[in-house]
Amino acid sequence: MAKARFSRVGFILAAAGAAVGLGNIWKFPYITGLYGGGAFVFVYLITVMLIGFSILAAEMFIGYKGGKDAVTSFELVAPEGKKSWKFAGFMFISGMIIMTFYSVVIGWIFHYIYLSASGGLPTSMDEAKTTFDTLVGLSPLTATLWHLLATVFVAAVLMGGIKAGIEKANLILMPMLMAILLGLLIYAMNFDGFGKALAFMFEPDWSKLNSEAIVRAVGHAFFTLSIGLGTMITYAASMSHKQSVFKAAFWVTMLDTLIALIAGVMLYSFIFQFHAEPGQGPGLVFKTLPVILTQLGTTGTVLAAIFFIALAFAGLTSAISLTEPAVEYFIQRFHWSRPKAVIVNTTLYFIIGISAILSYTKTYGAAFSIGGTPLFDAFEFSTDSILLPLGGLLIAIFVGYVLPEHTREEMRKHHRVPLRFYKIWRFSLRYIAPAAIIFMMLNNFGIIKI
Ligand code: PHE
Repeated sequence: MAKARFSRVGFILAAAGAAVGLGNIWKFPYITGLYGGGAFVFVYLITVMLIGFSILAAEMFIGYKGGKDAVTSFELVAPEGKKSWKFAGFMFISGMIIMTFYSVVIGWIFHYIYLSASGGLPTSMDEAKTTFDTLVGLSPLTATLWHLLATVFVAAVLMGGIKAGIEKANLILMPMLMAILLGLLIYAMNFDGFGKALAFMFEPDWSKLNSEAIVRAVGHAFFTLSIGLGTMITYAASMSHKQSVFKAAFWVTMLDTLIALIAGVMLYSFIFQFHAEPGQGPGLVFKTLPVILTQLGTTGTVLAAIFFIALAFAGLTSAISLTEPAVEYFIQRFHWSRPKAVIVNTTLYFIIGISAILSYTKTYGAAFSIGGTPLFDAFEFSTDSILLPLGGLLIAIFVGYVLPEHTREEMRKHHRVPLRFYKIWRFSLRYIAPAAIIFMMLNNFGIIKI
């Protein structure tokens, strides 16, 4: 049976669906707020274009050539004598670790869709705090049920495989997500807050830029493009051989960046219009936004519901892509059937995810933490700050140094990359990306502090 492959648009949307996630709509706006706006956005844009894009194209290139799960693709693509590079393919395990908390956050979003629909959104900041803290700290059962729903959705899509599952879900959800965000942006354009939001996001105040902001911007560039954990290898293994990985990586980077910027401008228009505080951290969309929107009466409740639906779509398409690499690994290497691979993997992260939920509760928190850090945070830190950058570093070294020179001819012929761009890409993989990643990791461990 011929291998099922994505259509061209299907591949771009699936890869963009992987990239566009909670990172774009929830995290990017709030870290922009925490680090003071424009200057942070500037560093983020530079890093995404220079480092993120290069590694994304390199990762897709490995999948395109290998045509299999991440481990097998590394093994097939590595030159003779260097086959132990296959171990780099185990980076897919990061996706499973991310899912233990990512699925929980999607569950929170489901809860907020429910609150919008049932008229239960908070109307004051105090109430907003109680609503959120109750969900996260006092109602593990509610959080677990929503986490279960997210897991079941992901499993159902993955059962359908590449065409009937992943491609179809993305062909439906991604255009809807983009339409909703554009609609909300157009709505926000009528506000005076819109101009302030643009100024906040695009007029850099360099005095606010410190080394921590730079490190966060580099880290986020990895997370937002979904690189360094084999997702893009696994997806690209099923792309059409007539498609160029360079162009595909370009479109995915553009879409991902555009959606983050739209989400940021839209949210900050609301924030400034209603004189709320921009630098509030993770509670921005779960606490501040509902309070603002409920002031608009029924319109506001509808806007809130629509916003949380879009956020759920973004999260779900990423969740699918975080799980598929593990599923594909077991199908290819252990010859498991797809249903078996899907059920085993989703059940696994679902169960570990419950420990992440419990780690945030008042009653069980202490039992589910390591050295005082709740498991939820430990799973996040170990992936976001250690494993993803490490995966990115391995990809940069593999394509930049280990792959033989004929990569150049392939990139130019199959993938239609002009020589000038090829040289910049290679330079970035060999020098800029490794240097930036090592700098960031040393900083994260407190080994160097600038
Ligand atoms: N890029 C996704 C986001 O922005 C998260 C993600 C990371 C998804 C890695 C897949 C792989 O939320």
